[in-house]
Amino acid sequence: MTALGKLVRTTAFKLTLFYLTVFALFAVLLLGYFAWNTRRLITEQITETVDAEITGLSEQYRQGGIRRLVLIVDNRSRRPGSSLYLVTTSSGEGLAGNVGSLAPGVLDKAGWTETAYRRLDESEDAEHQALARVFQLPGGFRLLVGRDLEERERLHDIIVSAGRWSIAIVVVLGLSGGFFVTRRVLRRIDAMTGTTQRIMRGDLTGRLPIAGTGDEIDRLAGNLNTMLERIEALMHGLKEVSDNIAHDLKTPLTRLRNRCEEALRTARGEADYRAALETTIEESDRLIQTFNALLMIARTESGQGREEMTEFDAAEIARDVGELYEPLADEKGMSLKVEAPAPARLTGNRDLVSQALANLVDNAIKYARRDENGVANGEIVVAARDEGSGIELAVSDRGPGIPAGDRGRVVERFVRLEKSRSEPGSGLGLSLAAAVAHLHGGELTFEDNEPGLRAVITLPRTGPQPAPQLAS
Ligand SMILES: Nc1ncnc2c1ncn2[C@@H]1O[C@H](COP(=O)(O)OP(=O)(O)OP(=O)(O)O)[C@@H](O)[C@H]1O
Ligand SMILES: [Mg+2]
Repeated sequence: MTALGKLVRTTAFKLTLFYLTVFALFAVLLLGYFAWNTRRLITEQITETVDAEITGLSEQYRQGGIRRLVLIVDNRSRRPGSSLYLVTTSSGEGLAGNVGSLAPGVLDKAGWTETAYRRLDESEDAEHQALARVFQLPGGFRLLVGRDLEERERLHDIIVSAGRWSIAIVVVLGLSGGFFVTRRVLRRIDAMTGTTQRIMRGDLTGRLPIAGTGDEIDRLAGNLNTMLERIEALMHGLKEVSDNIAHDLKTPLTRLRNRCEEALRTARGEADYRAALETTIEESDRLIQTFNALLMIARTESGQGREEMTEFDAAEIARDVGELYEPLADEKGMSLKVEAPAPARLTGNRDLVSQALANLVDNAIKYARRDENGVANGEIVVAARDEGSGIELAVSDRGPGIPAGDRGRVVERFVRLEKSRSEPGSGLGLSLAAAVAHLHGGELTFEDNEPGLRAVITLPRTGPQPAPQLAS
């Protein structure tokens, strides 16, 4: 498509054409009305003065006869101006006046006519238009009084030419304005098309240009960019999950397979097969657990679970989780204390928040059995507090803690610190806790408990933030 063709097809240009037509039509109507009205006014004025003059002259005729009329008409005919006078006998023979010739038959009919005429003192070919009234005088004489219409025609011409010019100017200005606006819009749309093509080719980092004018195109581009950011983040998450699954599930699956193969090779009786099968089932269970955890994280990160928001008490959750893990803590020779004196109500997904807190407690029991020097100090505190601006759920232990440099890393999927390898786990517990916090518009942070770790989930009371806000 040529550049001009593209321009002409745009909505902006079509709108310009539409408005241009409307304006031009309006201008024509306005000028037409003006022309018609002035013409009517001038005609009215002429008829009024001619009528008055005829009344005066016929009065003179009544009082002084034809002689007096001829005298007066003769006198008036000599005055310069646009007035026409003619007095004739009943046979049409001129007695006085300044009319040289008239269109044939004008004098035969009494009343108003618009006629071509020539003045007495003018050459043969001069011809004008006049509006005149023929009046039948008693005694067969006829009186014609009229006015030249040149002025009326001149005014008409002026209006017509003004009309032509103004329409021409409206069209020229409108078209060039339309071209200018359309080209500007088109240039921006072209830039956007370029970016979208790049994105379609697979480069998700492309963003639509924003002119900064805050107009509707900018708003649209801004919203599309927000959408692209979200898509990019989701794609990134998806890729990460699949990469991780590929990497981290391959090892246990291979191990599982090798163990089965070895059992087949070396087992000597039913007892051996049974043992091999039991370990296979155990490992499969762990694999299923890991799969489930991965799925839960992926779902949470993609915003699922937003639909099941209810209002609940975080203090109650802290107590429930404390109760659930107390036997396990006891078994490991640790103490678990719950500090949730006052209700801490918030809106959120109760199950996910419970699971996140449980993951933190599970970690504390697993990793804080001994401090850095290997001294047993198993005090764990689960706390829930209403901070006013939000709700804080914290798990503090007295273990080795997480070095400040590793605190950002441990929330990533499958990340386990070297010293924790001896404990069972797949490195997904904190990823889920962080995803749950984000889903609610909150965050998961780690503090030094001096010694030990204090893992804190902060959640806003108002519940989760809706999906990214789009400008409207
Ligand atoms: N309370 C803690 N004290 C010391 N280190 C911790 C603590 N909590 C977590 N960590 C470290 O962070 C790592 C990641 O924890 P995360 O809960 O994500 O995984 P995991 O506990 O190893 O496995 P999973 O929770 O999936 O069973 C742990 O492997 C551990 O090295
Ligand atoms: Mg864990």
